Amino acid sequence: MSSSPTFESIKRRLKVPVIQAPMFLVSGPEMVIAACHSGVIGSFPASNARTVEDLEQWYCTINQQVTKDHAPWAANVIVHKSNPRAEQELQLIYKYQPEIIITALGSPTSVIEEAHKYGGLVFADVGSPRHAKRAVEAGADGLIILCAGAGGYTGTLSPFAFVEEVRRFFDGPLVVSGSINTGRNVRAVEVMGADLAYMGTQYLATEESMASSEYKEMLVNATSADILVSDRVTGQVASWLVPSLIANGFDPDNLPEKCEFDFSSMLDVKKWKALWSAGHGVSQVTAVRSIEDVTRQIEKEYQNAIEAERSFLHLLQSS
Ligand SMILES: Cc1cc2nc3c(=O)[nH]c(=O)nc-3n(C[C@H](O)[C@H](O)[C@H](O)COP(=O)(O)O)c2cc1C
Repeated sequence: MSSSPTFESIKRRLKVPVIQAPMFLVSGPEMVIAACHSGVIGSFPASNARTVEDLEQWYCTINQQVTKDHAPWAANVIVHKSNPRAEQELQLIYKYQPEIIITALGSPTSVIEEAHKYGGLVFADVGSPRHAKRAVEAGADGLIILCAGAGGYTGTLSPFAFVEEVRRFFDGPLVVSGSINTGRNVRAVEVMGADLAYMGTQYLATEESMASSEYKEMLVNATSADILVSDRVTGQVASWLVPSLIANGFDPDNLPEKCEFDFSSMLDVKKWKALWSAGHGVSQVTAVRSIEDVTRQIEKEYQNAIEAERSFLHLLQSS
């Protein structure tokens, strides 16, 4: 596992080794502040703010309410060439200096130099060992590996295979994404050889989420059988809630041909407001709760998992 001093000092501020993952049209300042106050890293995609002026206001509010006594927050930016606002979003990120910048859907190269000038860490979100290697060569401080079963844009590799392959060439901070839903799962991520769990779906149906009440209700009622993984909706492989595809006129058995991914078309918020996503672990979402409640449960389960390991070890040693 990682031994970077800055990262280690960030980890010491966490109650449980978790990042509340950034979620398009779902995570905003309220979620991020509550997550950081609950003891996990909070994050949101810059594209969730309708205008650049709103984004500046959001960063200001977060910086006022999240201090060194809390877990830090992370800014997420879609660095894909089709994000028309990427440069403006990055300029604001450099101004408000989050301790971590998460780059998604593209290379972190253009972000690293500026982030390092103020001491920020850049974590690149990657979907394959090949992309992971490129991000490390570009100088990323940490990797977020998108594995099978994630909500939003998902990976397809098993986390066991992905972690082991990455650990052959990278010993820095490693974050695993994809259906991590309980504190026991979080502990499993550490046992696998990674540092942090990236959790989206478990924070989707919270009181602080910007998701609509209809979306939250669908999450509470859904199981893994309701999730369809396809690249035929936006051009990127993503997990979709089948009932929302049907409600939006898609036939899950006959989706349109794959198109080229164009993030700028996703800024047409009306189109995406009712097309909903979740990860394979959605059946763990059983009620709408506060972020504080969700984190406390994860923390308790995480501690119970460590206790169980200790008892097992004790049993082995005494037999
Ligand atoms: C509704 C939704 C929207 C998402 N939007 C984004 C996004 O804008 N940027 C991003 O980097 N990841 C996004 N993700 C992916 C998450 O950051 C994370 O990888 C994923 O939720 C982890 O898997 P899990 O949902 O099984 O916990 C999104 C996920 C969900 C569920």
